[in-house]
Amino acid sequence: MRVYITGGTGLVGSNVIRLMRLRDDIEIIASQYGPEPEWDYDYQLDPLDLSDTEACRNTIITHKPDVVIHCAAILDQVFMYEKREISWKMTVDSNLAFAHACAEVGARYVFVSSDWVFDGQEPLVTEDSPPHPVNFYGIMKTVSERDIMGVPNLSYGIGRLAGVYGLNYSNPSLLRKDNGMGFDFINYVIDQLSNNRVAEIWTGPKVNEVAHGTLASDGADMLLRVANYDGNGIFHCWGSEAISRLQLAHHLADLFDVNHALIAPVPTDPKVLDAHRHVSIPFRIVTSIEKTAKRLGRQALGVQDALHDFKKQWDAFYAPTR
Ligand SMILES: NC(=O)c1ccc[n+]([C@@H]2O[C@H](COP(=O)([O-])OP(=O)(O)OC[C@H]3O[C@@H](n4cnc5c(N)ncnc54)[C@H](OP(=O)(O)O)[C@@H]3O)[C@@H](O)[C@H]2O)c1
Repeated sequence: MRVYITGGTGLVGSNVIRLMRLRDDIEIIASQYGPEPEWDYDYQLDPLDLSDTEACRNTIITHKPDVVIHCAAILDQVFMYEKREISWKMTVDSNLAFAHACAEVGARYVFVSSDWVFDGQEPLVTEDSPPHPVNFYGIMKTVSERDIMGVPNLSYGIGRLAGVYGLNYSNPSLLRKDNGMGFDFINYVIDQLSNNRVAEIWTGPKVNEVAHGTLASDGADMLLRVANYDGNGIFHCWGSEAISRLQLAHHLADLFDVNHALIAPVPTDPKVLDAHRHVSIPFRIVTSIEKTAKRLGRQALGVQDALHDFKKQWDAFYAPTR
């Protein structure tokens, strides 16, 4: 099977590629935007900028993959808000170009979407709940999902992710270690706590306080299941349990055997609030995953199991160099 993947240097994409490399029946072609991957790679790189819509179409027509997994995206909420035209091109237009090209060459198309298609106001949302995005990112993901559904003769799966954390295997130096408004703050927390420094956990406003945090390797496995699934639709490929950022920080303290007293809930940094003054952030997204679990043959990991796997991955990755 030939798989074309975008965003292979990212947190999610690198985990998808890592899983695919464990199989010997997959030929991988990965789009390349910034620098080459840092890990030793044995797959083909294909230079591509999402803002070049024609190139997005042409590369699929040229490579004729069996599956396209589109992980690449911009996630910087302020950039998106300020640079709307280019962001729309990179998100909505590129997606539509990929989708049409996939229909043309008969490839299955997996689009990576987000729980931020929801506003975080409903007590429980399902795969069938109407989206109600509250920011430009969520709007672009929602429009992209709808565009895919309208492409004739397309085999597709929309794999929504939420609060992704884990190791970026292909480009470890890109792993963020700063504080955050979602679940990307996890490396910051580990870094602070294991160096005996206070880890400030922003409690709001403008944080995604509760979500189905997802271990990147587990989300990657779910996306590959979406790729293999025989049928179209939306899949909730996130952790099976919702958790708050503060609870997650305390679980991390347990896991890494560090001092809980160093965890400090504080109001969101005023500079960050100011930068995001025009951007709404969904506060609490709790969802059902039952339909997805039934279709994909498993549900994603719960909090404890995912964190257990994460610790194993962390130790295996960093232990030899410490
Ligand atoms: N992280 C989360 O918590 C989360 C939650 C829900 C949904 N998602 C979705 O999951 C997907 C993957 O996110 P991620 O966390 O892996 O993001 P990430 O780590 O920031 O990676 C983004 C990827 O997109 C590539 N990219 C950026 N601009 C590009 C451009 N103009 N042309 C081509 N490639 C470009 C980057 O390439 P370079 O490395 O070369 O710049 C990188 O490989 C996205 O669709 C995102 O919306 C993520």
